[in-house]
Amino acid sequence: MKVLVTGGAGFIGSNFVRWIAEHRPSWQVAVIDNLSYAGNFENIASCVGEGGVRFVEGDICDRGIVNKLLAGGSFDYLFHFAAESHVDRSILGAAPFVQTNVVGTEVLLTAARANGVGRFIHVSTDEVYGSLGETGSFTEESPLMPSSPYSASKAGSDLLALAFAHTYGQDIIVTRCTNNYGPYQFPEKFIPLFVTNALEEKELPLYGDGLNVRSWIHVTDHCRAVAMIAEGGRSGTVYNIGGGLEFEKPNREVAELILSHLGKDTSLIRYVTDRLGHDRRYSVDAARLRHELGWSPLVAFERGIVDTISWFQENRQWWERIKSGAYRDFYRQNYGSRG
Ligand code: NAD
Ligand code: DAU
Repeated sequence: MKVLVTGGAGFIGSNFVRWIAEHRPSWQVAVIDNLSYAGNFENIASCVGEGGVRFVEGDICDRGIVNKLLAGGSFDYLFHFAAESHVDRSILGAAPFVQTNVVGTEVLLTAARANGVGRFIHVSTDEVYGSLGETGSFTEESPLMPSSPYSASKAGSDLLALAFAHTYGQDIIVTRCTNNYGPYQFPEKFIPLFVTNALEEKELPLYGDGLNVRSWIHVTDHCRAVAMIAEGGRSGTVYNIGGGLEFEKPNREVAELILSHLGKDTSLIRYVTDRLGHDRRYSVDAARLRHELGWSPLVAFERGIVDTISWFQENRQWWERIKSGAYRDFYRQNYGSRG
């Protein structure tokens, strides 16, 4: 199998590249990534090189680069992970989200059609369904009601992908996963931010009342689901990916768990002004994926979070380098006025 991974130097994309190396070693992998602030070549450096992954530094919005890559590639699968992915950044400015998530996806879909890509896996998110109250879960038939510029741009890209499948008969599948966590997650996101702040004895900025609920999936379970969907999923179909109710946790509980595991006091938690338009709860029903393809998560949250904390303890250099760079400007902008 020849496969292209977009965004392969980011958090989930790089975990996917390593997952393939371990579980699908016969696949020939190419990666395209423009090494944005969230992309880091170091994340996949050990897989790149002779006989291994081919790395192309490039922007998915660049039609020339994308067409050239796809024309020479004869790809069986295209896994589209590349995106602007952080909700807080989309609230500070939506333009890069529309550009990469909507325009970039159109460029890839068009090039995939022109160059005969076998199957296109569009990696999306549960956030496209919007927010839930205390009960209920979204199925793949639930209406799309995105509430942040990030999730609106992802919903736009989902609709484009499904429209290309319908109109041109392209083999396209859309996946919608819950919140991921694990190694190499950029420390602007909740879990790596709170773990690394705690390790640095800095405050943990908990938004609002701290009772917003997220459903946490270990990144390796997401990667396995995406591969299984590529291999056995139905064309033109949407698949939710998520572990179910026992994986749902209020943010405060996760913050307290991190502090307790690190032997730190809960006084490090600082309640700060809420995120604008903050979605209260996400929850998906992944029965389709379970019943059709037999997928279920292998990593319990209680084990995965401990392993992830250990990874951040053992890889200080990786995140200290990020946190001491341009990241500081974003941190000041996002948290400076929260009070
Ligand atoms: P990330 O921000 O860590 O990585 C994104 C990668 O895409 C980076 O390597 C970046 O350099 C690259 N990229 C960005 N713009 C690009 C462009 N114009 N051209 C080429 N490359 C570009 O994101 P992530 O958390 O790994 O998310 C990956 C995908 O999974 C996204 O599509 C996201 O919407 C989706 N998703 C994420 C989660 C989650 O919890 N993180 C959950 C469900 C779905
Ligand atoms: O649900 C899938 C989505 O999960 C993905 O599509 C996104 O790419 C990914 O970023 C994530 O979005 P969230 O907004 O849920 O993740 P984030 O890590 O930003 O926040 C998780 C929760 O923690 C959310 O309720 C907001 C809260 N939070 C976050 C940060 C960064 C805080 O309380 N304080 C913080 O400093």
